[in-house]
Amino acid sequence: MGFSTRQIHAGVTPDPVTGSILTPIYQSTTYVQPSVDEYLSRGYSYSRSANPTVRALELKLADLEGGADCACFGTGMAAVQGVMLAFLNAGDHAVISDVAYGGTYRLTTKVLSRFGVEFTFADTSDPDAVRAAMRDNTRLLFSETPANPTMKTSDIAALSEIARAAGAVHAVDNTFLTPYFQRPLELGADISVHSTTKYMDGHNATVGGAAVSRTAEQHEQVAFIQNSTGSIMSPQVAWLTLQGCKTLSIRMDQQSANAMAIAEFLEAHPKVAQVCYPGLASFAQHELASRQASGFGAMLWFEVKGGLAAGKRLMDSVELWSLAENLGSVESLITHPVTMTHADVDEAERQRVGIIDGLVRLSVGLEDADDLIGALERALAEV
Ligand SMILES: Cc1ncc(COP(=O)(O)O)c(C=O)c1O
Repeated sequence: MGFSTRQIHAGVTPDPVTGSILTPIYQSTTYVQPSVDEYLSRGYSYSRSANPTVRALELKLADLEGGADCACFGTGMAAVQGVMLAFLNAGDHAVISDVAYGGTYRLTTKVLSRFGVEFTFADTSDPDAVRAAMRDNTRLLFSETPANPTMKTSDIAALSEIARAAGAVHAVDNTFLTPYFQRPLELGADISVHSTTKYMDGHNATVGGAAVSRTAEQHEQVAFIQNSTGSIMSPQVAWLTLQGCKTLSIRMDQQSANAMAIAEFLEAHPKVAQVCYPGLASFAQHELASRQASGFGAMLWFEVKGGLAAGKRLMDSVELWSLAENLGSVESLITHPVTMTHADVDEAERQRVGIIDGLVRLSVGLEDADDLIGALERALAEV
């Protein structure tokens, strides 16, 4: 069945007791067992370990990504942490994309590094750089593509080969494109990680995360951490995310069409110094982005002539675009990563990987493209 059919029907069946077409919010801590000998015969014991509403979302996401199973977490960061704890032990080494969400950088450099795991930040858009970074004790390659916020794109199939040859797990943060546009497991990766906070929810209503595994064994390892660390998603969040997923394809199509129109407008604007959107022919990795994904997504960045000062004036004054963190929702957002989402990345490292001070990030929403462009046009006239 096609993606749009599966995003609506996968993982859910009408409630057998009432016929409710929506999976109910199972707001229950515990589950009564028929007898001691039949413990867990209905699959549920305690909602830290598993919850029927969360399970429906896990089955849906596993289906959409083409994986064996999925574990849903309280946040995207909990999902990233879950994957890292599942596959890394003290004495191990991991290679991480040198451009990734600031929280992933903080988790590795400031938390997990305290437990005897070593991390190397490599340019995952360059397979040779990744090959050179791998060590005998490398157990995890964690790539984010396209990367937040620079949009640097990594070749998932090439990286999966490198990881496989080294006996390491390859996890891909697929938050920016979602399985509608990009399916890492089909390209050879082992795990597809998400902040479901973004496009899966799509309505700025929740924070959540997910990790879809290629094999049942890998899933068991991730689910063990989900239970042991108590980081499962809540049933209300799962319910809202289940509803969000039903319109994922149509939102992604329209939001990327809007993003393309905005990128073209900005590229032609005399006050704009540079625009970065994978759908533009000028994007350095346009060929790779076109080959590996079926759409370019709705994230882009640009720099105003006049750099940081001009960019700040624009972000503070533009109408319609809300100055806020988060991305992927129906509301268009404008963000200054250096101050907001990536403030915890060392300044030298930020400069080295291209998170420049004047970078203005746009998460393009579902409003009319003409209105979004009009607002940017008026703000640019003032800077
Ligand atoms: C690419 C990416 N991965 C992971 C995360 C973390 O997700 P959450 O904020 O849901 O913890 C984010 C958050 O912005 C992100 O952009």
